[in-house]
Amino acid sequence: MERTFLMIKPDGIERGLIGEIVKRFEQKGLQLIAAKLLQVSPEQAATHYAEHRGKDFYEPLIQFITSGPVFAMVWQGDRAIALSRSLIGKTDALEAAPGTIRADYSVHTRLNLIHGSDSPESAEREIGNFFRPDEIVAYTKAVQKWI
Ligand code: PPS
Repeated sequence: MERTFLMIKPDGIERGLIGEIVKRFEQKGLQLIAAKLLQVSPEQAATHYAEHRGKDFYEPLIQFITSGPVFAMVWQGDRAIALSRSLIGKTDALEAAPGTIRADYSVHTRLNLIHGSDSPESAEREIGNFFRPDEIVAYTKAVQKWI
């Protein structure tokens, strides 16, 4: 069982896409184990995007992710990281496969609606940056045995 950190970005909140996006992960069969709406602090943003510090898009990215509320989530499931990224699609909406969230709803590289962890190590670090251990709910859904 793998965990991943997903975050609907300020453009997704502003455009009223929380329900549509969450629905896709639920229907796929992943299990939501933590979620909250929050305003990302500059410190959290710097920690979250530390690997991109120094790149030309770093400052606009920090400005964007702190510009309004985000919806942070932890999802769990078999191969949750790769599956989530396949539902999200490539960074650039032009390269994202049809049917992915970014292909269906975004036109940008920056305003691309949602972030998803790219490795187990990133997932652990990102979950820890946004959630306390007691905010993650351990529960079993009977339906999971069919997925
Ligand atoms: S890299 O260098 O290949 O690792 O970058 P990439 O994975 O494509 O993107 C990393 C995150 O940076 C965001 N991004 C941008 N933000 C602002 N402006 C520009 N031009 C830009 N290009 C990429 C991109 O949305 C990624 O955000 P996350 O939240 O990780 O998906």
